[in-house]
Parts: sequence; structure tokens; C-alpha cells
Amino acid sequence: MKINVGVIGFGTVGSGTVRILLENKETIKKKTGVELVLKRIADLDIETDRGINIPEGVLTTDATKILNDPEIDVVVELIGGINPAKDFILKAIQAGKHVVTANKALLATEGKEIFESACRKNVCLGFEASVAGGIPVIKVIKEGLTANNILSIYGIINGTSNYILTKMTREGVDFSTALKEAQERGYAEADPTFDIEGIDSAHKLTLMASLAFGIPLSYDSLYVEGISGITSMDIEFASALGYKIKLLAITKLINGEVELRVHPTMIPEDYLISKVDGVLNAVYVVGDAVGETLYYGRGAGDMPTGSAVVADIIDIARRIRDGVSGDRDLRFIGSETHLKVKPIGEIESMYYFRFTALDRPGVLSKISGILGEHQISIASVIQKGRKVGEAVPLVLLTHTARERNVQEAIAKIDRLDVVSDKTVVIRVEGEQE
Ligand code: HSE
Repeated sequence: MKINVGVIGFGTVGSGTVRILLENKETIKKKTGVELVLKRIADLDIETDRGINIPEGVLTTDATKILNDPEIDVVVELIGGINPAKDFILKAIQAGKHVVTANKALLATEGKEIFESACRKNVCLGFEASVAGGIPVIKVIKEGLTANNILSIYGIINGTSNYILTKMTREGVDFSTALKEAQERGYAEADPTFDIEGIDSAHKLTLMASLAFGIPLSYDSLYVEGISGITSMDIEFASALGYKIKLLAITKLINGEVELRVHPTMIPEDYLISKVDGVLNAVYVVGDAVGETLYYGRGAGDMPTGSAVVADIIDIARRIRDGVSGDRDLRFIGSETHLKVKPIGEIESMYYFRFTALDRPGVLSKISGILGEHQISIASVIQKGRKVGEAVPLVLLTHTARERNVQEAIAKIDRLDVVSDKTVVIRVEGEQE
């Protein structure tokens, strides 16, 4: 049996996908009995040599040659961005073709229409490659752990920011040097703001949460904070306290409310996820039956992401082979409308504060007084250095507190005349001491 595939977008992920389709064709055929035929590749640039031997007549600059070809069964969208990617996907679905995409930004922000139209036309929409690159985490949530009520997901799902934080931690380099290197290595999004400000992680978390809990795609209600405000000083303090700082994407379902947040997080350094360094990603999924599970691997790059794209194509090929059309499970996304996203002010966490306060008797009691008024209990305090009458960093860890109380207390503390700079606040995960 043959399945015809058309790939739109011959960039980094497109090249990996094409290479795997061509080089692993026989293996795939042996495993599934299906021959995947790369019928066309569309890209505006068909001149650049990607180092792959493309069969004659496959390359085109015209995407409609794929969208309008009745012989093409699966359309793979790898151009990224909102338009024309959205238009291509909707047209492919309309033509009754199955779609595979790595486009997390599009699905997270405008996915409702796309998922609905795939369900209406009874075609498959594969998006494994859109979350954590080569790690098959969509399959984990959708299939491997289907038997569970998913309780929570914690992910390091942006390689660029993990690479930057790791470099800053290990080598003490500054933020911009580390970012530049990540860009040169091709990890960063076209707009690196997406990586460093947590937006890319937020897109991926939106998709995982909807798949895990059935909530509508909730990108607009997600709390996002990136890593551009993290300094070497905070990394050093965190390390002295036994923590690593990671950009963590967190979602939890508690009493009918879903927490949905991306922010720098201090994690005890002996946790497995703290050891996920460099460009690598990890996703920790907790189910009520299975307990804790952890998935680790490459979250970006041509071949790892191509591996996820081709896995989706193979899944679709298997369904066509077995006479199954469409993917009924996609209807779960957005079906649990009674579940609400918890506003960030309502969440509870432990916190790290770094105050810049005058080194003078009575300052700590002023700060701790305000914290006490807001029901924030102190777990430990460190002051490094002694500069009587000058501003010094004063670091404090709290027990579990409510975010709204923390925001109010910090706003009050920052107005004290003994506090000379904006307080740094980092949420802390781990066991309460
Ligand atoms: N820019 C993304 C990252 C790559 O750094 O993880 C793929 O999503």
C-alpha cells in the first residue's frame, strides 16, 4: 500500500522530515506494510542545497500543487507562523486531506477553528512535533496514559531558554552572550522573544493542557513570565540554597480548576528534572493510576523534530491502511468547558525574594512585618556581605503562600525607603521545609 505525502516548508524541520522519509522508507515499510511516497515538497526557496538527494519533479514553489493534488493523502505544514500556514491547513482539511504540523503558535492561538474543521471533515490532525520536538509527549498524554486522570504536567519545553540558563549557571556568561550562541546553533525561534519570554513554552503548554484535561485552548488565560530578568546573582543564590533555576511550564488540575503558567522556577537540585541541561527538554507527567513519569530528549532540531513529524505521518498511514478515517479523540480538546483556568493570584507556591535593602538594624523586621501582615511565613534568610548604610542583597525563602498576598506584600515593600531596587521574585517548587 502507498500513501502520498506533500510537505510544505523545506526549512530546518522540513529538511529533517524529508531526510527521514527518504532514508528510512524501507524500515517504515517493513514495520507497517505501508510505503510513504514523498510526492511533493513546496518551498519558496528550491535552489539552496540542503544536502539531500531529492527525486526529480518533487520540488515546487507552488503550495497549491500539493493542496489541489487529489492523489496526496497527507499534507505536512512546516512553514510556521500564522499566515499562510493557517490557510494552507484549512484548505488541506477542506480537501479531505489529513494534516501534520509542527506549528505550536498557530494551534495554541487559532487552533479552535482548525481542530473543529478537522473533526467536521473527519480527518486526522497530527501535532506531535509541535511540543518538545522529538519527545513523543503528545502520544504519551493521548495514548500511553489515556487510562489515567492526568493530575499535572511540568515541562522544560524550550531548548533555547534552557540552553541560556545552563550556560549562565555553568560558565557564568551573561544572558545576551548565551542567547547569541543559541541562535547561532539554530535552536531559537525566528523571533527569539518567543523563546526567552516564555511564549513558545506557553504555546506548547496550551496544547498539552487541552489534550490532558479537555479544556478549550486557553493561551489567553495562561500566565507567562520569561527568563530575561534572571541574573547571575540569582542563579548563584539559588545554587547556594540547593536549587537550579529553570523555565518551567506547569499545569495542574485541582478541584475543577486548572493552573496554567510558565515562569522561571527554582527546583531542588537533586530532582531529576533539575539535571536536564543545555538544549534538552523534559516533560514530567503525573497520572492518578501511573503516578509520576518523566520523558527526556531533544526538543528542537531538524532530525528530532522530523522524527515526530514522520511518526505522525506513519500513524495516519496506519489508520488509512486499517480503513479508519479521522481521529475521534481530537473531540476531547475543548469539550470540558466546565473546567476553569485559575487566575495567577489564586495559586499557591513557595517563593524566593531578593530584596535590595539598606544594611541597617531594623530593616529585616520592617520587611518581615509586611510579609507577616500578608500571611507569608519565612523559611530562611541570607544576607551576603556587610556594607553598613549601603544597599545589599537580602534573600529570603518562604513557606507556601498565596500569590495575591505575595504581590501585595512585595508592592508595599518596594515602596519602603530602605529598599532601593525592585524586588526579584521567583517561584519555588519542591517539598515544604
Ligand atoms: N525554539 C524552540 C526551542 C524549538 O528552543 O525549544 C522548537 O520548538
